[in-house]
Amino acid sequence: MKTILVTGGAGFIGSNFIRYVFEKAGFKGRLVNLDKLTYAGNPENLSDIARKYKGRYAFVKGDICDYGLVGRLFKKHKFDAVVHFAAESHVDRSIFGPKDFVETNIHGTFSLLEAARSAWTGQGPGASAGRKDVRFHHVSTDEVYGSLGAAGKFKETTPYDPRSPYSASKASSDHLVRAYHHTYGLPVTISNCSNNYGPYHFPEKLIPLVILNAMEGKPLPVYGDGKNVRDWLYVEDHCAAIWRILNKGVPGRTYNVGGDREMKNIDVVRSVCAALEELLPSPENPALKGKNYEDLITFVKDRPGHDRRYAIDFTRIKKELGWRPSVDFNGGILRTVRWYLTNPGWVRNVKTGAYRKWLDKNYRR
Ligand code: NAD
Ligand code: TYD
Repeated sequence: MKTILVTGGAGFIGSNFIRYVFEKAGFKGRLVNLDKLTYAGNPENLSDIARKYKGRYAFVKGDICDYGLVGRLFKKHKFDAVVHFAAESHVDRSIFGPKDFVETNIHGTFSLLEAARSAWTGQGPGASAGRKDVRFHHVSTDEVYGSLGAAGKFKETTPYDPRSPYSASKASSDHLVRAYHHTYGLPVTISNCSNNYGPYHFPEKLIPLVILNAMEGKPLPVYGDGKNVRDWLYVEDHCAAIWRILNKGVPGRTYNVGGDREMKNIDVVRSVCAALEELLPSPENPALKGKNYEDLITFVKDRPGHDRRYAIDFTRIKKELGWRPSVDFNGGILRTVRWYLTNPGWVRNVKTGAYRKWLDKNYRR
């Protein structure tokens, strides 16, 4: 693979993936990161990578829904692979404003598929000769499968049953990706992954929100009874899974990716508190004013339509591609909390919105 297009590479998982590809996967080619820089995109996540791999890494500020731009990028760079992360990704935001989810997650995926079809299969507008040595990897979520009861796990064969505008838009994009394989022969793969955590996670999601609130002595909001279950995976393990699928996965195939670490939300929040007690004991944190971290836990109104339980059966990727999670949850949480404690500049820029001002200056619309 000589040239890869990564979409949404300025976000949480995308930036970790680009870092992984350059620093750990032994990638020798070029990589173009196409990102619209929504509130969730922050090129500061990759400022060191951009400097270190100048000449092999290029950033393009743009919208995946912009057919003209996406088509021009395919023509200019002759991509050998696409890894598609770009999405609106937060369930709570999708409940209050679903429009952007439909646009980016469905229309944006469609626009990329059309450009790939045109450039790679010899079909569609402006088509060139067919290519077999290419791959379109679509990054998706376990949330497309809906909600589980007390038993069972999501397999690749589990029927789709999305319940939030976010998961419905992701399910829709998965269907489009599969349709392009069956109809046009586009060499696609899909991964449906469980909840990720790790560095560069935007603090609207549970784990980074709880870390930063706890550091500042603010309430730690737990929705409902705190007994909803998610299956947590350290982000670098997800990146390794995607790289494995990109290089060894079978075209047309879907792979479930999970952490084998089901946890109730309340236990996740307690684990974060325990990691903080270890790294920044509450008596040494003036923001706590004599409380300990767990005293900050506050049960709040539940999310509408809150899926009860997710759990992933990742037998296929384990058996066929030899991938399994390598970071255990307690170790991963310690690493993550340590990262937030040792990167106050990043935290400050994100929390104060200073990163947006920097973006507006450096990436004018
Ligand atoms: P994120 O919200 O942190 O990042 C999304 C990135 O996409 C941002 O950089 C944003 O600027 C960019 N983007 C949004 N709209 C765009 C558009 N129209 N054009 C170009 N760029 C655009 O998301 P994340 O948590 O890193 O998730 C990445 C992908 O992984 C998503 O597709 C998500 O559905 C999937 N996923 C996430 C998780 C998780 O736990 N976070 C789990 C499984 C799957
Ligand atoms: P989140 O990080 O938003 O990911 P997702 O909704 O994609 O699973 O939420 C993880 C779980 O934590 C989910 O069950 C909702 C819950 N949650 C809280 O209890 N409090 C919060 O403040 C947030 C953001 C989430």
